[in-house]
Amino acid sequence: MKLLKFASVSACLSALLLVGPASAQVNDPGVRSTTGVNAGQPLASISANANDLAFFQTGLAQFSEHQTVTGDNPGLGPRFNLDGCGGCHSQPAIGGSSPSANIFPNVGPNPQSQVIANGVVSSATNTIPFFVTATGPVREARFPFFFNANGTANLNNPNGGVEDLFTVSGRSDAGACSLQQPSFAAANAANNLIFRIPTPVFGSGLISNIDDSTLLNNQAAQAGNRFGVAGSFNRNGNDGTISRFGWKAQNKSLLLFAGEAYNVEMGITNEIFMQDRPLPGEDGAGGSGGLGLPANCLNLAGVGYPEDITHSDGTNASTSASDITLFKVFMEDLAPPTPSTSVPGGATSIANGRALFSAVGCAVCHTPSLATQPSHLTSGLGNATANLFSDLEVHHMGTGLADNVSQGGAGGDQFRSAPLWGLGQRIFFLHDGRTNNLITAINAHGSNGSEANTSLNTAAALSFSQQQDLINFLRSL
Ligand code: HEC
Ligand code: HEC
Repeated sequence: MKLLKFASVSACLSALLLVGPASAQVNDPGVRSTTGVNAGQPLASISANANDLAFFQTGLAQFSEHQTVTGDNPGLGPRFNLDGCGGCHSQPAIGGSSPSANIFPNVGPNPQSQVIANGVVSSATNTIPFFVTATGPVREARFPFFFNANGTANLNNPNGGVEDLFTVSGRSDAGACSLQQPSFAAANAANNLIFRIPTPVFGSGLISNIDDSTLLNNQAAQAGNRFGVAGSFNRNGNDGTISRFGWKAQNKSLLLFAGEAYNVEMGITNEIFMQDRPLPGEDGAGGSGGLGLPANCLNLAGVGYPEDITHSDGTNASTSASDITLFKVFMEDLAPPTPSTSVPGGATSIANGRALFSAVGCAVCHTPSLATQPSHLTSGLGNATANLFSDLEVHHMGTGLADNVSQGGAGGDQFRSAPLWGLGQRIFFLHDGRTNNLITAINAHGSNGSEANTSLNTAAALSFSQQQDLINFLRSL
């Protein structure tokens, strides 16, 4: 692991100021061992009931399954990022964040010429985009703006939708549908390409069950804090209440996210998102003139729409449920991550770090815990304490982190305070996975316009051993 010292942000905030390894004394101990840690388990209240547990396990199996265009698990494509939820959400267990290996089997040293072994990507028409590498992270791509005719980004025409990496074209099960991948190299050349990595879903049932009043009271309690942190909530466009999932808190609920992910990531239509999803430009967005997907790319599964349905002929909860319901149940029932009390650095260092985390203002945004409401779903989700380390607000994070993508009430430099539970076993950090070093991730909080500048400067003024305590605390989570 690289050794770095926290950087303080200078009065002239023109660039990120990372202090290089030469002056280094603080050490990110790296990903905490998974030995003895049962990440990815169901809540105890789910394990205690055989029917609940069976439902959870069916959900886990579905979340891990590989989909195909036709056949037993139909509906993949015509555009997609991967063929199963579990491939992206897998570190340190299914439901987690980006792994660092085996994202796409066989992505080797010369990715452009590699064929994906399991047939997810056919060499006939797909190439592996340059930013998908053998050691990760899993990346999703978006173009913040539509393009001008000359290929430059049109800053007056915001896009920001997901550009799926692959198409089913050329696969033996895809028929005559012939689509091109988006031109990621051209978008990169126009400086119009941003990335997102997967957020983990452990404990997400608890996040779902925090009432708006709890969030608003927490926000009110932080008003006038001495770190200059403000913050606001992203809200759901349909009912106006606080939304909470995704890097910009752009999504209201786990069921909605499941429906959206099934369609956007995998191209599988469902009862929430009924139509196959074209790319934004293909769909006529931004005045692009696109006319939707070609007819020979529609209904490729041959089963009609939507491809995933609630099975009215099922005989029990698991066999009747739609796939998106199973995803929702699996995610909702996942226990939150279990922190370590002694690793890394020992109990005293971790306890010191926890106190410093509050003292330097990290806890203003990364609220250590919030209470949940009573739950009708399972007792483990009700009247519980969610140790999420997030206020679920979006904050201005400055030019250094801005991705120029607006989602609902979150603008180009606004992000949800990332929940930090489970951080100790994460490999990649920040919305685009730009680093695997915790210290670099913290230093990235400082740039022109960031609400976190005062907090970061306060942390930068700590002694080396105090900073090490802070890092040890974070890796204990
Ligand atoms: C290609 C990789 C990929 C696949 C496949 C994928 N996801 Fe994700 N997932 C992501 C990324 C990236 C994000 C962050 C999206 C954002 O906020 O921009 C995410 C975020 C989420 C979240 C939000 C969690 C939170 O607290 O913010 C949920 C829920 C989720 N995914 C569920 C699913 C489900 C269910 C599936 C399968 C139907 C799935 N994902 C498939 C990459 C993936
Ligand atoms: C103004 C609010 C704010 C303050 C103050 C703040 N953070 Fe953050 N933090 C965020 C946001 C927002 C993100 C997500 C940024 C992104 O991904 O672009 C984040 C991300 C992180 C991450 C990466 C998490 C992940 O999922 O990749 C770490 C680690 C972190 N913060 C630690 C800290 C520490 C330590 C402090 C105190 C020195 C701190 N933060 C202060 C808002 C804040």
